[in-house]
Amino acid sequence: MKKLLMLAAMLAAVTTATAAAPDAAKIEKTYTTTCAACHAAGIMGAPKVGDKAAWKPRIAKGKPALYASAISGVKMMPPRGGNPGLKDDELKAIVDYMIGKSN
Ligand code: HEC
Repeated sequence: MKKLLMLAAMLAAVTTATAAAPDAAKIEKTYTTTCAACHAAGIMGAPKVGDKAAWKPRIAKGKPALYASAISGVKMMPPRGGNPGLKDDELKAIVDYMIGKSN
């Protein structure tokens, strides 16, 4: 019985790992295809991903404010990064991804 439980726990761990992987890859891919055009090089004053100084004051505004900017746009930043097909949850995940590389 104990062995069976261990097997079940191991199976659960494997399933969670494989379920999370494609998502992270998809987020990174969407960032690369949609957002990196401006955010990789810092085009038009976009905060460059990886540039901690550029992100610090933005991160200080709090995530909800950054999510709102990503969804609705701000100044030269187009709504949804110019990709209307992106869902709010995807945009939030990409913002988290960008912040994660810039803090
Ligand atoms: C056409 C260029 C462009 C693209 C594409 C773009 N951005 Fe931006 N982004 C900008 C600019 C410019 C700013 C700075 C706006 C400002 O002056 O505060 C910005 C700012 C931001 C900010 C900070 C907003 C704030 O309130 O401080 C976030 C978050 C962001 N972009 C997320 C994204 C995400 C996510 C994507 C892809 C889905 C994306 N951007 C695609 C140009 C772009």
